[in-house]
Amino acid sequence: MDPVAVDALLSGLRPALVFNCAAYNAVDRAETERDLAFAVNAEGPANLARACARHRIRLVHFSTNFVFDGMLDRPYVELDEPAPLGAYGASKLEGEQWVLDLQPHSLVIRTSALYGDRGSAIKGGSFPDRILSRAVSGESLRVVADQKVNPTYASDLAAVALELAESDLEGLVHVVAAGCAGWDELARAVLAEFDVPAAVEAVSSAELGAPAPRPLNGCLASARVAPMRHWREGLHDWAVRRAAQHRL
Ligand SMILES: NC(=O)c1ccc[n+]([C@@H]2O[C@H](COP(=O)([O-])OP(=O)(O)OC[C@H]3O[C@@H](n4cnc5c(N)ncnc54)[C@H](OP(=O)(O)O)[C@@H]3O)[C@@H](O)[C@H]2O)c1
Repeated sequence: MDPVAVDALLSGLRPALVFNCAAYNAVDRAETERDLAFAVNAEGPANLARACARHRIRLVHFSTNFVFDGMLDRPYVELDEPAPLGAYGASKLEGEQWVLDLQPHSLVIRTSALYGDRGSAIKGGSFPDRILSRAVSGESLRVVADQKVNPTYASDLAAVALELAESDLEGLVHVVAAGCAGWDELARAVLAEFDVPAAVEAVSSAELGAPAPRPLNGCLASARVAPMRHWREGLHDWAVRRAAQHRL
């Protein structure tokens, strides 16, 4: 994000609120594209926060459970100490810190395992979408079981983010679906929603051998806001909407 262009854009548009959803989110590639990850996830939000502060615009910035190392035996709350394991988490943590330092009236929303009605382009669709299409095309499904997350429907997150944006809340907040699950459990729940009888083989992070380390306990909870509905309810609504759109 070019700081001059960002500033000019905000001064022209004069929005009351800015939501920053942009991120470099290729978690594995970030290990070898560290500079790019920090440019998008740290320098970009810093430029945006500086411009928002100058124009007195409230900024809502999204961050991630990957700022934690996953060693705790309970869900992480806002006061827990971050300790990112990889370049993606480290770059997102730096972005959070810039936003909170440069625009004190901002809100940084950490979330986890997001999926929406339109999947992430860089990831080739959302996790539930990719699981479904692989199952339907007969591919085997080996899914990591020892990484726990709160699978969070983007539509639920968006509704809460709007509410919080209009409230007086400032600083860091965790907003995730209630409940925690391994990615394998989420994959099985997706297939069950569509009665797809494919088997999911649970594998460990070590067996999968992804280039970037990920927190085993990636579960969040909030000490500041009420929990959202359970992830299985969000997933069901996502599936109903998807079935209506795609006719699987
Ligand atoms: N997905 C998750 O599981 C998850 C979990 C926790 C937190 N988050 C956070 O949630 C937010 C949204 O992530 P997402 O996974 O939903 O991502 P996404 O759908 O892939 O969206 C990322 C967006 O960032 C834009 N972007 C990337 N590089 C950019 C750049 N240099 N300048 C401007 N825009 C750029 C992309 O635009 P193009 O498509 O045009 O490239 C895309 O619209 C991020 O802050 C992420 O860290 C995501």
